[in-house]
Amino acid sequence: MSTTDARSSTISDAQASEPEFLKRIFIRSQMSEFVKDPLLMARADGIHYWDVKGKQYLDALSGIYVASVGHNNRRVIDAIRQQMDQLTFSPVMHGSNTLAVKLANRLVELGPEGMGAVKLLSGGSETTEAAIKMARQYHKLTGNATKFKIISRYQSWHGSTLGSLSAGGLTSRRATSEPLAPGFIHVFPPTCYRCPFGKEYPSCDITCASLIGDVIELEDPSTVAAVMVEPIGHTGGIIDPPDEYLPMLRDLCDKHNVLLIFDEIITGIGRTGEMFAAQTFGVTPDMICLGKGLSGGYSPVAALMCSQVVADAFWGDPAVNPGFLEGHTFEGNPLSSAVGLAVLDEIVERDLCANVRKVGAHLRRGFEALQAKHDCIGDIRGKGLFQCIEFVADRNTRRQFDPPIGQTIGKHVLAHGLLTRFDPHWIAFGPPLIVTEKQIDDMLALLDQSITAITSAL
Ligand SMILES: Cc1ncc(COP(=O)(O)O)c(C=O)c1O
Repeated sequence: MSTTDARSSTISDAQASEPEFLKRIFIRSQMSEFVKDPLLMARADGIHYWDVKGKQYLDALSGIYVASVGHNNRRVIDAIRQQMDQLTFSPVMHGSNTLAVKLANRLVELGPEGMGAVKLLSGGSETTEAAIKMARQYHKLTGNATKFKIISRYQSWHGSTLGSLSAGGLTSRRATSEPLAPGFIHVFPPTCYRCPFGKEYPSCDITCASLIGDVIELEDPSTVAAVMVEPIGHTGGIIDPPDEYLPMLRDLCDKHNVLLIFDEIITGIGRTGEMFAAQTFGVTPDMICLGKGLSGGYSPVAALMCSQVVADAFWGDPAVNPGFLEGHTFEGNPLSSAVGLAVLDEIVERDLCANVRKVGAHLRRGFEALQAKHDCIGDIRGKGLFQCIEFVADRNTRRQFDPPIGQTIGKHVLAHGLLTRFDPHWIAFGPPLIVTEKQIDDMLALLDQSITAITSAL
């Protein structure tokens, strides 16, 4: 049977747009809304998508921070084709494969100094979940079996599995799955624009960081395993910490023998202008979680990278040390590893990190120009090709719109062919790392029109 036959043997492409068939797929939001005006993508190339009706979209979001090297990237596709003819699966219970070993070594080479080993996985949630388990097992193996608590932040997102969801701090998404796992403690993020402590930077002395030290002490350091943060928080509205914040966390963790985990599922693989945000901020954590951009969207691949010190704890006599007890059927899949290697080659050989720095600075200037034109833009945050604008009804008081306008603008601009990440009060761009300044200008022009259209009707 040909590929076409196999696809048409159930329903046709045209039928796939009909409510009767659409209602059979769970998506991430209310299906009854989705079926009314479904967005079904048909193909993509470079920084563009086309939906099934032939409408073109500029992708200012890399799908969802995934398509790092652009859509339809020939190097990655050729790598998949070549690998298809060689090996598509290897026995994970009994070993690995050369592609997986190469990818692990490539990541360690590219990582901050001191990284030692990599656990390859298939998705972001698996990776943050594995980081939590690695932290706990590390302490058990090094004689600190009572250390199990994980400190993470409100408004954060670390994934959908129960452990990663327990670490996450989004009340709305946690609520539907409660009760969640015990052993997770949440602290406030470094939201300078709306400081939870009512302070101003720099006179605040970075209270949001020093309080994490207080929390570790109050919880009892002998019970705390790790602090897990996104170097730049996403779901709270691109929460870009002050320079001192991450170094302070590093010191606090060192002081209390607590592991520092960076969830770089979004910020990793070039997005902030260096291969890892750890390098952008000059802070080396004990573990780095990678996903999204490492796959480029070509095959599910994710990775947990740990320091040599952590890796050493898992090395030893099997009679007393079982190694890292975490396993998934598709870990280190050869096809996915070939994809990861090709994505990394593409970024390194085309020096896409330099492009991110250059075009990211252009994006910042573009957002600033929009802010000068539209009073409703209160703040601009982020680094490289990971930036957002926050909407406010009053710039002086920073009062938010009620009802919010972020989603209305986001939906309007989507209808006009621009894919962004929109929330009630902010809109973010995270385009593929190959994006040009001209393409950013085109994206900003569409956003500008939508802001004008929505705010002039208020
Ligand atoms: C920072 C962060 N961590 C973890 C995850 C979970 O990744 P996945 O959806 O691949 O499971 C996400 C996904 O959006 C994320 O943004």
